Amino acid sequence: MTDPPDPYHTIIEPFKIKTIEPIRLTSREERHTILRQARYNMFNIHARDILIDFLTDSGTAAMSSEQWAAIMRGDNAYAGSDSFYRFETEVKSLTGYQYIIPTHQGRAAEHILFSILGGPGKIIPNNTHFDTTRANIEVSGAQARDLVIPEGKHPKERHPFKGNMDLSKLEHLLQTAKPDQVPLCMMTITNNSGGGQPVSMQNIRETSELCHRYGVLFFLDACRFAENAYFIKLRERGYQNHSPSDIAHEMFRLSDGCTMSAKKDGLVNIGGFLGLQDEGLAQQARNLLILTEGFPTYGGLAGRDLEAIAQGLREVLDEHYLKYRIRSVEYLAEHLIRIGYPLVEPPGGHAVYIDARALLPHIPPTQFPGQALCTALYEYGGIRTVEIGNAMFGYLKDGQEIPSDMDLVRLAIPRRAYTQSHIDYVIEVAERVFQARRTFQGFKVIRQAPILRHFTMEFEPVYRIYETRL
Ligand SMILES: Cc1ncc(COP(=O)(O)O)c(C=O)c1O
Repeated sequence: MTDPPDPYHTIIEPFKIKTIEPIRLTSREERHTILRQARYNMFNIHARDILIDFLTDSGTAAMSSEQWAAIMRGDNAYAGSDSFYRFETEVKSLTGYQYIIPTHQGRAAEHILFSILGGPGKIIPNNTHFDTTRANIEVSGAQARDLVIPEGKHPKERHPFKGNMDLSKLEHLLQTAKPDQVPLCMMTITNNSGGGQPVSMQNIRETSELCHRYGVLFFLDACRFAENAYFIKLRERGYQNHSPSDIAHEMFRLSDGCTMSAKKDGLVNIGGFLGLQDEGLAQQARNLLILTEGFPTYGGLAGRDLEAIAQGLREVLDEHYLKYRIRSVEYLAEHLIRIGYPLVEPPGGHAVYIDARALLPHIPPTQFPGQALCTALYEYGGIRTVEIGNAMFGYLKDGQEIPSDMDLVRLAIPRRAYTQSHIDYVIEVAERVFQARRTFQGFKVIRQAPILRHFTMEFEPVYRIYETRL
């Protein structure tokens, strides 16, 4: 059951601050120089030169006093530590899985899973694969397929569960696949690469039933399971009086396993796990774990990290926390829309995505409008964001730039790290940036790597005189 309704409208941060980390104000001139020295790549800027860091919500959460206390209890024994058993008990009670395998982060769990179930000729569907998931599938020789509903691909189309799987496309794939060609189907909750959009319980249930009818395992990519559970409570009929914890239990119990990056809804700075129901799979996974991560009772983590995850998983399902979390993302989105920013709507659980291509129509996709917006947000206010567009997904073919489908800029909000006034400051900066948008220039690439180029790419502005009618 949930708490009675609150008599007040203001949704406050449901915590007070015990430890602080100073952030540094720089001048616009300094930031101009820093940008030039960083070759206009946000990943090259030192964190000490950032005022508000919205680069990612992964591993950037503030931990609670209970988590720090748990860290002190950490038992770092190589084998059979108490911390592992506390972690295992917590994850089992949340997920209902029999076998819990700790890993140093989400992609390590993915690597182990797809090393066992992937391989040449296999096809692995998902609503939308996150980039490390896709990469781990492809490295195994298998094919990764994205089958999100059509609404999930249109930034402006409003749908309460834009992360849902397209069940008819999935059924078609399962019907036409060769026997054992689809060993498992993944479902990413919330759908990060699709704008942090949630998946409904009905869709999780129907996907699970469909997979099981065809003898295919159904796995969750559960990084943001608590945010997804809260969206179900808010938006899905029949769940208003369920607690986020009950909803999370129901989601996990519809699946055969999960990969988890605890750096998101585990509320920790490092860690993850692979959860499994099948003993044979667990045995194979543990063998691989020993090879790359460590002994099965620590799996690439210290005992103290396991303690922090166990505590974080309890705290993240607190309804007051989730209400504040989802509302603060929504609040930022509402103000950006009021200013005039075109966004992916409705906003997701962990981030706001601006459609930079629509905002800056005078900058062609080949000149990186997303990059232009990231640069402006930093220069005007010291805000670091990330381009999810042509730098990340475009590529070179025969010396020609082949642009990505969209040029988005993501403002990912770290959990429990910033307050309302930080968000209000971001809104004020965004207002100035919006007013100046017609003066922004595009960029050209001066250096890039052949794969995952966005991390190390170097840029130079393309100076041109803009037409006044823009
Ligand atoms: C949906 C999703 N899956 C997997 C991962 C990979 O997790 P990690 O960064 O812990 O390896 C991420 C990280 O951002 C993610 O968002």
